Amino acid sequence: METPYGEIPEKFVKDMTIQEMHDYLRARFSRRALLKGAGAVGLAAAAGPYFWRQSSAFASTAGAPQWIAYGRDPAREMYVSWSVGSYNGPVPSVPAPQVRYGLDTTYGAVQAAENSGTVPVPAISGEPVENTVYNNTLLRNLWPNTTYHYSVSNDGVNWSQDVTFTTAAVGPTDFRFTMVGDESTNDVTSLPIAQVIGGLNPRFNVIVGDLSYAGGGSGYYSNGVPTNVSAFSPGAWDAYLGIVGPNAAQSIPWQAGVGNHEMEPLNNFGYAGFLTRFPQAYAPQAVTGSPVLKSFTYGNVAVIQLDGNDLSAELSDNNGYTDGQQTAWLAQELARYRAPGSGIDFIVVGFHNCVFSSNTTHGSDGGIRLVWQPLFDQYEVDLVVSGHVHAYERSYPLRGGEVTTVVPSGGTVHPHRDGTTYIDAGGGGQGLYTGWYGVTGGGDPATTSGEPEIWEWTGSNTATGGTGTSEDIADYITDYSAYRHANWSFIVLDVTAPKFPGGETSILVRAVDPTQTSAGISTIASPAIMDSVTLVRRSRLDFWGAAASRR
Ligand SMILES: [Fe+2]
Ligand SMILES: [Fe+2]
Repeated sequence: METPYGEIPEKFVKDMTIQEMHDYLRARFSRRALLKGAGAVGLAAAAGPYFWRQSSAFASTAGAPQWIAYGRDPAREMYVSWSVGSYNGPVPSVPAPQVRYGLDTTYGAVQAAENSGTVPVPAISGEPVENTVYNNTLLRNLWPNTTYHYSVSNDGVNWSQDVTFTTAAVGPTDFRFTMVGDESTNDVTSLPIAQVIGGLNPRFNVIVGDLSYAGGGSGYYSNGVPTNVSAFSPGAWDAYLGIVGPNAAQSIPWQAGVGNHEMEPLNNFGYAGFLTRFPQAYAPQAVTGSPVLKSFTYGNVAVIQLDGNDLSAELSDNNGYTDGQQTAWLAQELARYRAPGSGIDFIVVGFHNCVFSSNTTHGSDGGIRLVWQPLFDQYEVDLVVSGHVHAYERSYPLRGGEVTTVVPSGGTVHPHRDGTTYIDAGGGGQGLYTGWYGVTGGGDPATTSGEPEIWEWTGSNTATGGTGTSEDIADYITDYSAYRHANWSFIVLDVTAPKFPGGETSILVRAVDPTQTSAGISTIASPAIMDSVTLVRRSRLDFWGAAASRR
């Protein structure tokens, strides 16, 4: 449909109101103009004041934290969650938990919490009982690409400070998002990382596991039976949410995924606490075998969040728990997004364990590489982002287990031709892993002799991982490291939509490097960029094609 201000794809027009058409066009053209410079600037300019600025939207520190996540339709649904904050002792009274929301601070709509309760925690010697009440509700029928004001209350009388969120745009658009893992609760690392993410004002943030480090990790949950309960510290969740909520997650959808530290001595494969705190648009467990998987789209990008604990050769707690269902669902999602007419050009996959890491701690996980890398190759996954290794590392693009081309910092990858880029974004705040094996194209040199290592099964390989004991051995692929640096960091991804049918579309991926010493981050102002790569595709989107065919 042609309008005086631009064209709206026919497939969207039939479902759009006049207001939604206005929002669509405003998003496409105002945001494109705004970010035009950002896509073209080099590394030095990217670190300037327009790349990052402290947002006044994140000034709220009073009261209990709140955080948000997309519903099944990111353009029209948003989960709002909040807690009563850290609380030890009797369960506090939360008589009437509710959210008020609207287009300005007069709100106009009120919605009661749909869930309100505590996380049942096993009796723990020496640990306070976790009696924080977690509340959440799903706001529905929102306008796309619209900024809402909201505020929460536990009793309908006392309200939290006003904050805002913005729903997702509909259709192809330029936008920014961030990805990070291994955040923790440290005041001089985790906190400033959350603040820098907030200052970048991404449309959403994807977390690749290990959030609060309340418990789990390995040996805390085994075959349905909680073990090692005494090391479980559920109060760490209150510290975590107290950091990320007021600094970012109350306004930026916090698209959380699990790591090994989300396996807690609780039910539902150890994820009961994670699920209570993070209501999200999970794919049906009956289909995936897992309660914590999801995929969503924004513009021409699909994001799939997986659970590496299912297939890890390094950590066995949840090995094989989906009995192959997760991998079958992944294949189905990849096929769906690569099918003609999906509206998707780029596929970004996030999970916790690294497929390619030259770090001396953890290293690469061969269980996951064995099962998922063939799917990443087959469906031309553009980018795989992991954590677990507390550092930053980018691989050269690989296909079939071989580096296809050497791409230095600032270079360009054509995923259709070159294959998949693997990034470790595990510098979210937890203690860093500074040891490295082998050669790299940039950043930290080797600190130890020898080649990168990988966790492999000693027994035979199966479709759901492998058998026998796992062991850390010399890897059979060693030349993949493009850039690596052990620092507190994360990645910011700027998507440029195609300008015309079959036009070029890209994601500029930049590794954000706040000013820091070995003791922590010293300032959150003007963070530098240590590494970048641009992923470029020729768009396959058919929405203009559909419109053009009618002319
Ligand atoms: Fe971690
Ligand atoms: Fe981890």
